[in-house]
Amino acid sequence: MTLHDACSPRRTEAELANLREEVFRLKQELHAVIVSHTYQIAEVQDIADLVGDSLELARACAELKSETIVFCGVDFMAETAAILNPEATVLLSAAAASCPMAAMIDEGILNEWKAKYPQAAVVTYVNSTAAVKAGSDICCTSANAVAVVESVPNDEILFIPDSNLGHYVSTKTQKSMILYPGYCSIHARLSAAEVIQARRQYPEARVLVHPECRAEVIELADAALSTSQMIRDAGERSAKTFVIGTEEGLLHQLRLKNPEKTFHLLSPTLICVDMKKTRLENVIDTMKRQSNGITVPEEVALKAKRALDRMLAVV
Ligand code: 13P
Ligand code: SF4
Repeated sequence: MTLHDACSPRRTEAELANLREEVFRLKQELHAVIVSHTYQIAEVQDIADLVGDSLELARACAELKSETIVFCGVDFMAETAAILNPEATVLLSAAAASCPMAAMIDEGILNEWKAKYPQAAVVTYVNSTAAVKAGSDICCTSANAVAVVESVPNDEILFIPDSNLGHYVSTKTQKSMILYPGYCSIHARLSAAEVIQARRQYPEARVLVHPECRAEVIELADAALSTSQMIRDAGERSAKTFVIGTEEGLLHQLRLKNPEKTFHLLSPTLICVDMKKTRLENVIDTMKRQSNGITVPEEVALKAKRALDRMLAVV
């Protein structure tokens, strides 16, 4: 899939206007709120009531009073919304949008690791299934991982599933971190050579990368930040040019919020195919058919909610 195919469905202005109108009509009919992760394609972000990172959307969904939440993102995010807001009907806008990192560990493997490290607190990145969250002490996102790890009383931490985020946290804490070997293939494929090349090409630029990147990439960047932190950083810093080492969708928000600044993607490979599965047609179809409803078995949901609530109480 090319960058263009992934990010910009070809449409006339009239087609786009018709699709938007249909989205708004259905949204009103269903009393729905549409939420979008910042990695979604621009036209999806533009019709959403709320656009944010994993942490912002989890917090917002927990508080929403609407009957239906249409989640434009990947499955673990919609599952988190359903767990935190059991009163709402949560619909995932593209049924097949799933995070491959979340599939790198299941409950059985988690139990084996827990048996090996009985003293360790289990800190689980939200990019995980509900069943894995249910077996964890506390969840974290990339925006609060350091604070969450610092908040638990244990000296030993079993950090799952992202080894790169876990390694990044280990550089910021005195705790002993055991890292499960999961990773995000989109961020982990970035290389130090690409950062060096970007610095040569844009010597004045501030280089921001996501903490899901490998250690050698983070070392060469100016900062490792979650997506919401990147948006804040770009707004607050005096730099006029930025090189961004995270999924392409974030550039849309960065450019909307900072029209006078320039943003370059660190690598054209920074596209999460799962995040790009949602088109406006999917949003419409999901609402029309009220399909792709997310349900989590009650027993799993209650335990997973405990781990998520503990995270939300931290920051
Ligand atoms: P954020 O936690 O920054 O929203 O990132 C989510 C994600 O999937 C990163 O790849
Ligand atoms: Fe999962 Fe990586 Fe896609 Fe985020 S960018 S949803 S971690 S595969």
